[in-house]
Amino acid sequence: MSGHGTPIPMSSAPCGPLSGTANVPGDKSISHRSLILGAMAVGETRITGLLEGEDVLDTAKAMQAFGATVTNHGGGEWTVSGVGVGGFAEPDNVIDCGNSGTGVRLIMGAMATCPITVTFTGDASLNGRPMGRVTDPLALFGTRAVGRTGGRLPMTLVGAADPVPVRYVVPVPSAQVKSAVLLAGLNAPGQTVVIEKEATRDHTERMLQGFGATMHVAETDEGREITLEGQPELQPQTIVVPRDPSSAAFPVCAAIITPGSDVLVPNIGLNPTRAGLFTTLQEMGADLTYENMREEGGEPVADLRAKFSPDLRGIAVPPARVASMIDEYPVLSVVAAFAQGVTDMQGVKELRVKESDRIDAMAKGLRAAGVTVDEGEDWWKVTGLGHGNVPGGVTVASQLDHRIAMAFMVMGMATQKPMSVDDGSPIATSFPLFETLMADLGAQITRGDA
Ligand code: S3P
Repeated sequence: MSGHGTPIPMSSAPCGPLSGTANVPGDKSISHRSLILGAMAVGETRITGLLEGEDVLDTAKAMQAFGATVTNHGGGEWTVSGVGVGGFAEPDNVIDCGNSGTGVRLIMGAMATCPITVTFTGDASLNGRPMGRVTDPLALFGTRAVGRTGGRLPMTLVGAADPVPVRYVVPVPSAQVKSAVLLAGLNAPGQTVVIEKEATRDHTERMLQGFGATMHVAETDEGREITLEGQPELQPQTIVVPRDPSSAAFPVCAAIITPGSDVLVPNIGLNPTRAGLFTTLQEMGADLTYENMREEGGEPVADLRAKFSPDLRGIAVPPARVASMIDEYPVLSVVAAFAQGVTDMQGVKELRVKESDRIDAMAKGLRAAGVTVDEGEDWWKVTGLGHGNVPGGVTVASQLDHRIAMAFMVMGMATQKPMSVDDGSPIATSFPLFETLMADLGAQITRGDA
């Protein structure tokens, strides 16, 4: 698989206790939405704490290509002067969303009901991922899409000039699909209704309400039903982006498996639709506590303290929790390798269509490192070896997937021999300062093979 640049091999060697404070970056999901909704409002939205990873920077560039003015004031402070709902201009060139499924799918939704034609592309990972899950519902608004076989990028979308509102039951648990339909519904007259059978992250709904859209959420027999009134004038906002629980997962899990560790990870967004990993870790016997619980900008926030946890045990992760921890399975499977007994993860077939097939990528690396993994299309089980007993000592393919690369770097902190990845460059998509932050805690991550 080819990336954007030169591969960066990385190794992580067993290290002493991790200690200190880990200031992880801003939330990726909220950062994308801040830029996109800012571009769809009339006036200037101010954002602090924006994640300045490659994924979000690609979305910022895209919003500029659609006519919004996006300004970086330094230190995570950005402003977006929006063009209003339905006001997107036709970009002069192809929109390159890099590695980001969230970026491309949300932007497709936002442009789908504007009378413009847009061609999207991405890197080798993104160009292999299914887009039909988004273009199918967008077709109901009147949007046309032509892409490669299997609904893959590069793909051209012709926005609907006279969109009609839509009622759509999302067939897969996906916040990206739900959000794409809601963003398209903004410029359709009347009410757009989206129903999800399983609740997924609800940042789009929370933020749309913050931007002044009228919407209503009801629990029905079919699932969670979201009704959006079309063609509002969105009001610019001041947004403080909380720190990303999906990034916090890496120092938290590293502390849990590395003997003697005690790490504080402050200001983590703990929206219940995102916090499933932390509940799961506590059920496995992890010493993980929430300190200073509070609410900021409409999202629950706390400081997480994670300590080395000598008595981890494998558990069956409840399938009802999958959506709230979908991005955290790679690093959970690493923690599972250091637990006693089996960690059973069911109902997870969405993992197969992320930046990589995450079950395949993790299973290959864990097995090479001496850990037993069983898998099926929709499930996998990791049989833990207990602390001190995981051999390691191998190089694993990161498959252009930031979370695979970071998960194996965390693993190498507690294996008997170092763990390496062939390419750590994708880490910059979501966590540009990962190596520095982990080094400050005491990790031994180096560039180049071990
Ligand atoms: C995201 C939704 C999830 C998640 C991704 C971010 C979002 O994807 O995996 O990292 O911001 O809406 P799916 O919608 O494909 O589950």
